[in-house]
Amino acid sequence: MKRMLSGIKPTGQLHLGNYIGALRHFVENQEDYEMFAFIANLHCITVMQDPEELRNNLRDCVALYLACGLDPKKATIFLQTDVKAHAQLGFIACCHTYLGELNRMTQFKDKQAKGETNLSGGLYTYPSLMAADILLYDADYVPVGEDQKQHVELTRDLAERFNHRYGELFKVPEPLVSKVGARIMSLSDPSKKMSKSDDNDKGCIYLLDDLKVARKKVMSAVTDSLAQVKYDPQNQPGISNLMQIYSSLDNNRSFEEIEKEFEGKGYGDFKRAVADKVCATLEEIQNRYHTILESNLIEETLKDGAHKANAIADAKLKQVQQAIGMEIIQK
Ligand code: TYM
Repeated sequence: MKRMLSGIKPTGQLHLGNYIGALRHFVENQEDYEMFAFIANLHCITVMQDPEELRNNLRDCVALYLACGLDPKKATIFLQTDVKAHAQLGFIACCHTYLGELNRMTQFKDKQAKGETNLSGGLYTYPSLMAADILLYDADYVPVGEDQKQHVELTRDLAERFNHRYGELFKVPEPLVSKVGARIMSLSDPSKKMSKSDDNDKGCIYLLDDLKVARKKVMSAVTDSLAQVKYDPQNQPGISNLMQIYSSLDNNRSFEEIEKEFEGKGYGDFKRAVADKVCATLEEIQNRYHTILESNLIEETLKDGAHKANAIADAKLKQVQQAIGMEIIQK
């Protein structure tokens, strides 16, 4: 069975972009792949966190993985810090990454360009840690949204570099970026990605949003004055974004079908249909989330997941350290 691995940072609450671009694919693929889904709690401290808030977000993130349909019997679900090999291989990977490569990473460049100050060293080097996350497990595929593709490409370069220098050590992974929904845009500004760090809360639908609030966000999404439901990201970015959401939440229906369904109808009708889909999805997730919070499932899942992940990651780390010449005693 081929192996798939991905993670999400528990920085703030998970949102619809995370679900459509990543999480739903973890769930869809858990039947056919050996799935590793982790919570990237090292990555999230690359930006300053409030400890109490972070604890809550972590718990919510695990609960939401489960509520969205990840099954701990099929997928290995774990916390990044429960597997120490991530930090260790992360440093080794960092030592094999060139500054030029890190300088090209658009996420860091964007933050710098926005004039954000006090950016941390961890934020700058985090693509190397992400490479380690993936390489430790010899993942074949990495399902991610569009914004993470560049990091998986760096991971491929690093894997090849290691293999070339030390002999065959790592599988070279492939990013899986779906055609539809890999970049869900802000509802209030469709030129920007939907993001936890959006200054404007109206643009982002959180998975735990009150349903009335979520509906309102969809109904007030920015559109245009062309009065036609047509997939045209260039000229109708707002409508095209809503079509991506609608399609993703409705069995990946084609844009042509959606265009036909709303031919001659107003944006109000279309938005109502999108809001219905979004709210139905959220309601189902939230119902499961509340049941999960009242059970022991979170603790059990993380314990089990850490056990399985450590066995694989430790063995790989040892192999790497031996190949590099960092160990002299056979343990
Ligand atoms: P993060 O936490 O920013 O995002 C988690 C996943 O959600 C996707 N995503 C989106 N997809 C569509 N539209 C959006 N608006 C949107 N916003 C976010 C992201 O592309 C991602 O797939 N560095 C990663 C976490 C990570 C990781 C890994 C992922 C750490 N190690 C190893 C894969 C493999 C991150 O910050 O994702």
